[in-house]
Amino acid sequence: NAPVFTRRTVPAANRIPAAQRSQRMRQPGFGRVLTEHMVTIRWSADLGWHDARLDPYQDLRLDPASVGLHHGQIVFEGLKAYSQPDGGVGVFRPDLASERLRRSARRLAMPELPESLFLAAITELVGADRDWVPATVGSSLYLRPVLLATESDLGLRPAREYLFLLIAFVTDNFFPGEVSPLTVWVSGDYVRAAPGGTGEAKTPGNYAGSLLPAQEAKARGCDQVVWLDAVERRWIEELGGMNLFFVYGPPDSPRLITPPLGGTILPGVTRDALITLARGSGYAVDEQPLSITEWRSAAEDGSMAETFACGTAAVVAPVGTVRSTEGEWQVGGGVSGPVTLGLRRALVDIQHGLSPDHHGWVFPV
Ligand code: COI
Repeated sequence: NAPVFTRRTVPAANRIPAAQRSQRMRQPGFGRVLTEHMVTIRWSADLGWHDARLDPYQDLRLDPASVGLHHGQIVFEGLKAYSQPDGGVGVFRPDLASERLRRSARRLAMPELPESLFLAAITELVGADRDWVPATVGSSLYLRPVLLATESDLGLRPAREYLFLLIAFVTDNFFPGEVSPLTVWVSGDYVRAAPGGTGEAKTPGNYAGSLLPAQEAKARGCDQVVWLDAVERRWIEELGGMNLFFVYGPPDSPRLITPPLGGTILPGVTRDALITLARGSGYAVDEQPLSITEWRSAAEDGSMAETFACGTAAVVAPVGTVRSTEGEWQVGGGVSGPVTLGLRRALVDIQHGLSPDHHGWVFPV
């Protein structure tokens, strides 16, 4: 049975005029050009999920003593809606985003939003803000679901009231100057996640904790931080908020390696899609650990031709130069390689409906 949403939309006369909207959608950045509506659904221990609403985008009313604000009981997601050649809109793998949100919620002792409600929320918002889905390839509407503990009771225990929130913003490229290769800094001082911690949950603390290391990387002329494992400081885990792939061998029959999910790595939806697409192209893909010394030696002796990062926001981003306290090396001569660019193209074409969706990844709304 379909959930019933209380709908309050922006009156036609008050909507942002088309010309102004197009103007805002040009060079939107990331998270700055928000759409005109939002979805909220509440949860309480007494009522379960209730009060599903579509409203004009507006400030939240939040008790200053909300558990989420104080103790970080918050999880979120990121997924994208793309305009399709038939004039419709397709959302990329919302089923996986929904599942990951539930898994993240479980880790933070929060209630799990059923997939039917998650999908209904997306359908509501994209339906109301259809005009904000960019028509150009490479641009999309980024959907940001958030689940937040709203109860005001600061005894350290799980809240009994929550707010699910869905907002959307227009985006084109996460990195300015995409697809030019990134220069990355190997963090020896900081770790992102430890075994038994919250690294595989999409929770704000993981991102907040990455900001100071990212600032230090910037000060060294680098775009992103390479995270090593917390125990040995030897195994490569992630890059900033993205997963990593390493490409060996000749471009016509490459072998890809990506670090295995084991509790400290975010299970990326783009990571999962690229593993499938690479295998479908006949490439070997192994989920296995790679050490920082192996990365350097393979890049230097030429056996590793490419390295790239991937994520919903950035899609696929090549890594050209690696810096660490031990020195600096380049991968594939510091330029974008054919395997990276080919996989990126293949993925973007599916997302935009330009090539067949054999895996059922694009959910029409
Ligand atoms: C994404 O790739 O969508 C992310 O969530 C990473 C970051 C922008 C928060």
